[in-house]
Amino acid sequence: MVYGAGDVRVENVPDARLVESSDAVVRAVAGCISRSSFAPEHRHTPVIVGPPRGARTRGHEPARTFAAAGLRMKPGAPCAEADAIGTGHLPQRRPAEAARKDLTMKHAKLGNLDVSRIGLGAMGMSTAYIGPGDDDQSIRTIHRALDLGVTFLDTAEVYGPYINEELVGRALKGRRDAVVLATKFGLISHTGRGGLDSSPASIRAAVEGSLRRLGTDYIDLYYQHRVDPDTPIEDTIGALAELVAEGKIRHIGLSEAGVATIRRAHAVHPVTALQSEYSLWTRDPEPAVLPLLRELRIGFVPYSPLGRGFLTGQIRSAGELDDADFRRNNPRFSTENFDRNLRSADEVAAVASEVGATSAQVALAWLLAKGDDIAPIPGTKRVSRVEENAAADQVTLAPEQIDRLDRLTPAAGDHHNEEQMRMIER
Ligand SMILES: NC(=O)c1ccc[n+]([C@@H]2O[C@H](COP(=O)([O-])OP(=O)(O)OC[C@H]3O[C@@H](n4cnc5c(N)ncnc54)[C@H](OP(=O)(O)O)[C@@H]3O)[C@@H](O)[C@H]2O)c1
Repeated sequence: MVYGAGDVRVENVPDARLVESSDAVVRAVAGCISRSSFAPEHRHTPVIVGPPRGARTRGHEPARTFAAAGLRMKPGAPCAEADAIGTGHLPQRRPAEAARKDLTMKHAKLGNLDVSRIGLGAMGMSTAYIGPGDDDQSIRTIHRALDLGVTFLDTAEVYGPYINEELVGRALKGRRDAVVLATKFGLISHTGRGGLDSSPASIRAAVEGSLRRLGTDYIDLYYQHRVDPDTPIEDTIGALAELVAEGKIRHIGLSEAGVATIRRAHAVHPVTALQSEYSLWTRDPEPAVLPLLRELRIGFVPYSPLGRGFLTGQIRSAGELDDADFRRNNPRFSTENFDRNLRSADEVAAVASEVGATSAQVALAWLLAKGDDIAPIPGTKRVSRVEENAAADQVTLAPEQIDRLDRLTPAAGDHHNEEQMRMIER
């Protein structure tokens, strides 16, 4: 029998499938553990369940591994008599390069705001892709990001709603000053009128809620989540400028705003950043928005830079997605379009294998190559992936590879469903 401690889970049925290999998950069956290259595509070797007697194993080291994971086991229990399984998390063994990278993550300038040029999107930790996540795992992911030099965290009051900000607030306890903290308002009405609401009264209520949930007295970058057609942008920016003057927010951002709105907003108070969807398969900002941002010296934050996971090549069929996954309502993930889009994922994978990187890293490196005023915020709730994504900072693409990626097969299907597209200014 294995006894759990801390975040150790004890189950009755052994399950040899590792869910988070590079978190160095330890699974143990009645005192028999083996080390294996279970997931060779990951950089860390996981420790996996010792299989029943007779199966192939390499190097048993139960006592040391159990102790590191905070597990205790009954001495002498034979493998074949397994009656329980424990799962714990080993402290990461950090290779020297990873430790050095902590100090060398490059930075980007969004207006006059300095951020690590790769940030972390927290949305998927609470909503969207699989429903509520595993908060402990998400907090470890945020902490790992900070250790790797990621200083730019993204959330919104609507994620959850509210619980994502609470989660980020908990993760940042004692480390608030280490990050540029961005959140958003405007998709929830606090005035009772419903729909998009960026009226000054709604903003006043929203900011107090966000500050409370985030456990802070200032927000570094406060974005309007979608342009509100019923409130002149001048009124919205005027209210935000007052919050800047009061020290409640430090910078103003917009999301999915078009060129006319950006100009009008910037004339009232400097806008620091625009956050809109931009990735290898969503190129909408290139013809008009990006040139305007450069003219006005506004930074750009690409959201969904991994194409909601698609560009990583890890999802190979639309049927893999959970029924609750919001990509089920995204046209690019419909069964028909998904299969056509696989071609783009394969083109990214081809470049990735040339540069010895992963597809996710290539998708991010392509964005980074577009300018030092661009800071993508890939979303993940996993330590292994935040490590992988942060390491994209070190990936350099040759001009010929960038050119090929620029000409990637265009995506089949819009990047949002019809209702969501109506909220995007173009
Ligand atoms: N302003 C807006 O309207 C808006 C809209 C959408 C998103 N956002 C922001 O942008 C952030 C990022 O966008 P996003 O989360 O929609 O999309 P994304 O970053 O393009 O992709 C996230 C998805 O990719 C997976 N993933 C992450 N790293 C991976 C890797 N290295 N290999 C394989 N899969 C990987 C994640 O799964 P796991 O979590 O399981 O790793 C998740 O399902 C959000 O968190 C949010 O903060 C803003």
